[in-house]
Amino acid sequence: MRNTFNIQTFGCQMNEHDSEVIAGMLCEKGFAQVAERKDADVAIINTCSVRDNADKRFFGTLGQLKKRKMHDPEFTVCVCGCMMQQQHVIDTIKSKYPWVDIIFGTHNIHQFPQLLDNVLKEKKKQIEVWPDGAEIVEGLPAKRLHKTKALVNIMFGCNNFCTYCIVPYTRGRERSRKPEDIVNEVKKLVEDGVKEIMLLGQNVNSYKGEGDVDFADLIYMLNQVDGLERIRFMTSHPKDLSDKLIQAFVECDKLCKNIHLPVQSGSSRILKEMNRKYDKEKYLSLVKMLKDAVPGITMSTDIIVGFPGETEEDFLETLDLVEKVRYDSAFTFLYSIRKGTPAEKYENQIPEDVKHERFNRLVDLVNSISAEKNAAYIGKVEKVLVEGPSKTNSKTYTGRTDGFKLVNFIGNPDMVGKIVDVRITEGKTFSLEGEVI
Ligand code: 5AD
Ligand code: SF4
Repeated sequence: MRNTFNIQTFGCQMNEHDSEVIAGMLCEKGFAQVAERKDADVAIINTCSVRDNADKRFFGTLGQLKKRKMHDPEFTVCVCGCMMQQQHVIDTIKSKYPWVDIIFGTHNIHQFPQLLDNVLKEKKKQIEVWPDGAEIVEGLPAKRLHKTKALVNIMFGCNNFCTYCIVPYTRGRERSRKPEDIVNEVKKLVEDGVKEIMLLGQNVNSYKGEGDVDFADLIYMLNQVDGLERIRFMTSHPKDLSDKLIQAFVECDKLCKNIHLPVQSGSSRILKEMNRKYDKEKYLSLVKMLKDAVPGITMSTDIIVGFPGETEEDFLETLDLVEKVRYDSAFTFLYSIRKGTPAEKYENQIPEDVKHERFNRLVDLVNSISAEKNAAYIGKVEKVLVEGPSKTNSKTYTGRTDGFKLVNFIGNPDMVGKIVDVRITEGKTFSLEGEVI
């Protein structure tokens, strides 16, 4: 029987979690997941459309699969995820990669087992993409990547329409899960050994659950789940960050003192063009409120370099903001034109060489601040949730601090899934080194 599958996932944690659900559904049907695509009878590629390079890598991967499909027609190729929510992508697949067996989208992953059955039994190609999200489907299984930490969706979609971003078109309008469904899922995860949950949504701050439960209320509810040790969330939009949420950081002991707060640009003029609905001053005042209320809070962000019309002065505002906030880490992106977004049509697209030059200056600044901030941890004792051995050295274990810093230390298998005290001995740009005490 041909029953092995492999999933390659591009993009964000939402996609990562969708892949966990796809794996969960297939395992329930008796399939087995394999780490290498070459060993799989069914290949699934879960795509991301947020930037151009993910698009390119996807088509590159498809190109490589053609050879195998040609000499092994039973090999089943399935593609899904955000790119499939764009008609031009489906058209390209149909014309250039007609041997792809299944195309499905972000709104109907629960249908995948049925689509696969149809291909395997009837040898009929399946294309099923829903234009928008209908009712949220509850109760789907998930084969989690990690034993002790879990991704939990609390809402789907985005209503913000930042002018550069494709997500509102690929993930649809905002829909929130019911608070009781979320709490029940988390309780089950805890029974299964999970210590840490990451609440997922494109903009968790605009979560609106049944009975007017907002995001901060949800945190308070989850903070009471016995056995759960840590709560994180991702991503929050600065325009919706409430005083109530800041208070939740103070009052909820399980809420990790760390926030990912994408700024995108330090120039108020560019922020307006991006339709972000806050300016540099408002963002900096939010950061101050967070730092005052939650001493030691760690912060990360997303920054786009080279948005259309960005001048050197605008870019200097971004550098200035980074210096003022002093992020623990930052994801930096070259602006990439997305078909169908307002910014696609903007004049003054920035030349690639200018974008790259600014990008390099930004990365240098971000990294030097990260290294300084990490060096300041030397000598401190941090609580680290141990994840497992590192990929390169079986004696070295890795885990995360409450503030989401990655720590390497000499450990043993008994520590996995536990929170241990680690004294930090070295601070690097992207991680800390330490010893268990
Ligand atoms: N170009 C570059 N970066 C983008 N992002 C979203 N759309 C684009 C784009 N068109 C970045 C934003 C967002 C992160 C997930 O991806 O910084 O926060
Ligand atoms: Fe995209 Fe803006 Fe929505 Fe984030 S908030 S997903 S950047 S549109």
